[in-house]
Amino acid sequence: MISIQGVSVDFGPVKAVDNVSLEIPRNEVRGLLGPNGAGKTTLVKVIATLLAPSSGTAIVGGYDIHDNPNAVRSMIGLAGQYAAVDDLLTGRENLEIVGALYQLPKAEAKRRADDALERLSLTDAADRLVRTYSGGMRRRLDLGASLVGRPDVLILDEPTTGLDPRTRLELWAFLRELVSEGATVLLTTQYLEEADELADQITVIDSGKIIADGTADQLKGRVGGDLVTASPKRRADLVRVRELLEVVGSGPVRVDETQLIVSVPVDSRVEALVKAAQSLDEAGIELSDLAIQRPSLDDVFLAITGKVGTTEDVEAAKTKGGRR
Ligand SMILES: Nc1ncnc2c1ncn2[C@@H]1O[C@H](COP(=O)(O)OP(=O)(O)O)[C@@H](O)[C@H]1O
Ligand SMILES: [Mg+2]
Repeated sequence: MISIQGVSVDFGPVKAVDNVSLEIPRNEVRGLLGPNGAGKTTLVKVIATLLAPSSGTAIVGGYDIHDNPNAVRSMIGLAGQYAAVDDLLTGRENLEIVGALYQLPKAEAKRRADDALERLSLTDAADRLVRTYSGGMRRRLDLGASLVGRPDVLILDEPTTGLDPRTRLELWAFLRELVSEGATVLLTTQYLEEADELADQITVIDSGKIIADGTADQLKGRVGGDLVTASPKRRADLVRVRELLEVVGSGPVRVDETQLIVSVPVDSRVEALVKAAQSLDEAGIELSDLAIQRPSLDDVFLAITGKVGTTEDVEAAKTKGGRR
């Protein structure tokens, strides 16, 4: 459904996208995972015909972005990283305008606007100015706008970045619903967790280049799966904690001596956590924290490239919720 063929985008000396090729079959949800500045938005713009690549091309639903940009656009719904809705209109008006842009008959534009508002739980707020909406509501409205044209291909550029955790969960639920209806989806994100939640296949991109792809499980497998982490209150307990975690783990134990954190990869989340809790308790070790952690984008980067992500923003992504 989407075929990206050797696309590069140069901004002066910066190679924002560097010879990327990608095939996304119909009805697949593909996660494009990478830190800030990886080139996600630039690639999305190329596919959406908003930016001409320096070289290479993309075919969407059989149409080439160079030869047939209008046909490509008519197949795509795009919801951007920054909600592109008009503050001075109501939610309903925003959606009806999108319908008009698609040259839908007025009644049909109205019907689809109502439908999108309903599905996004915005019916009650439909006739309020968008100016009064919360961040989550704006993002939902923006998504609604991308649905009005009933696109075969839905492109979501960091749909939940900057949203609070509860709104993010709500949006995920809604996105899952959309996905189950069979659209082809390209979803960019900084969060492994989000890609894991929504995507069938994940492509990891860094500095404009694809550095890995696979299912979430495959990527996590490269990291070594989930981790149990324990933080003893006393430094003197580090060695003992290490020994005890070694028993419940399925891989090498890591000890962070400065932060007093001991972590070990595990196969079965809950079982391993319970075992760890029991043995640490029986040993009388006082802990400041005991947790099960899913691998973050950081861990994936570390496992794939041997280094932490290229930009400082990986840190930001982590504190924003990449790591639990
Ligand atoms: N219009 C532009 N002019 C110059 N450089 C740009 C422009 N847009 C993006 N870049 C650069 O291209 C790289 C990729 O950016 P972007 O595609 O926005 O990344 P992401 O969406 O993954 O955060 C970054 O280094 C960014 O600074
Ligand atoms: Mg971006």
